[in-house]
Amino acid sequence: MVKVDVKGCLPFVDAAKYENSVKKALDAFDVLESEKGAGNDFLGWKHLPTATPEQLIKDCEAVRDCWAAKGVDLVIAIGIGGSYLGAKCAIEALSHNFAKQLARKDAPEVVFAGNNLSEEYLAELMDLAKERNVACIVISKSGTTTEPAVAFRIVKQFIEERYGKADAAERIVAITDAARGALKTLSTQEGYKTFVVPDDVGGRFSVLTPVGILPIVAAGFDVRAILKGAAEAEKALAMKSAENPAVVYAAMRNLLYAEYGKKVEILVNYNPKLQYFAEWWKQLYGESEGKDGKGIFPASVNNTADLHSMGQFIQEGDRVMFETVLHVEKALRSVVIGTDPQNLDQLNFLAGKSVEHCNHMAELGTKLAHIDGGVPQIEVSVPCLDAFNLGGLFYFFEFACGVSAYELGVNPFNQPGVEAYKKNMFALLEKPGYEEATKAIRKRL
Ligand code: PA5
Repeated sequence: MVKVDVKGCLPFVDAAKYENSVKKALDAFDVLESEKGAGNDFLGWKHLPTATPEQLIKDCEAVRDCWAAKGVDLVIAIGIGGSYLGAKCAIEALSHNFAKQLARKDAPEVVFAGNNLSEEYLAELMDLAKERNVACIVISKSGTTTEPAVAFRIVKQFIEERYGKADAAERIVAITDAARGALKTLSTQEGYKTFVVPDDVGGRFSVLTPVGILPIVAAGFDVRAILKGAAEAEKALAMKSAENPAVVYAAMRNLLYAEYGKKVEILVNYNPKLQYFAEWWKQLYGESEGKDGKGIFPASVNNTADLHSMGQFIQEGDRVMFETVLHVEKALRSVVIGTDPQNLDQLNFLAGKSVEHCNHMAELGTKLAHIDGGVPQIEVSVPCLDAFNLGGLFYFFEFACGVSAYELGVNPFNQPGVEAYKKNMFALLEKPGYEEATKAIRKRL
């Protein structure tokens, strides 16, 4: 189970103010649980762990098996934002660090596209596709987002040219709205298998829908264990209590922000497999809270690497940040440091100790140094980084995000600001219907 420890913040905050923030977080918890707050038509994510039907997983496994029968060894998952980051995060967290170099054949490699507009990226993706047996999952809730639509046009043409229209229709699966959008229309016309992004689940809360489930299953990981871990968190976090980890996390981060000028939260990990967990978390909190002129800026570091780059700033720079450390109690593999008769590197004092022990001491030493440097520390911990605990982390941060954003006083479930760049881009690209905007934007250049 996910645990939250805020002892590393206590030297910085007034106890009575913390109690007050906990009261506000409990009120926010009630708003979330009453399902009457702002954005309450987007609460479908709350019960996904316990409500996801077994048949949905079986349908995803049927796609995986169909592609296996065709010898597919490369799945291109196309999507951006919430239609990308959850699956990317899960696959990175659960994969062998060197799966590619070991050329593991137990499942196809899943690569991602449609999350940028880099021409080089797409050209090089096609270099890879030409060498491999390819299938594609195209994911867009709206079905109209430009980046994935551009990538899909290119990948679709490639698959059709290589395999023919009929086989292409079995190699392409779409995940989109049940009824609306260009991708739904195209899928119906081309006869693609489709999965539905539920109406009441926003992109950044969609990792436990087919948006995350199909790529995770395609990559060969145990999605049932992820859902089981999330279900345990769903049950535990539903209890209203000042000790509820989501309430504690929301209360402390809002207090640090509102009363102590801590405008930046850094999510810290000590395992390279968690790098994309931070990317997923940044979208979840950035899009949910950054509005109405408010919000904690979500940032991240990957330690111990970033202790040698960002460490200086965190220790001694402008005191605007606090850290939330993802603590993984036990490594799943063991590497013990050996003895060297010459001891030229003077590391014999570590002989017999595990690398993870050194990692934990680096983590603890950093925590204490950063407390001394004026950086409050929240710790979010799990027993190990496996599918079950990853599911728990997903649900914990989603639920806590709802509580925290309501405590902050914003609607956690909309993202009106995302449209601004799109309007400018369409005007600059001369999209039909944007003629006036094109004229206006040209005057600014
Ligand atoms: O959280 C969100 O809603 C966004 O990040 C979307 O997921 C992202 O913009 C992609 O949208 P769509 O799935 O409609 O292509």
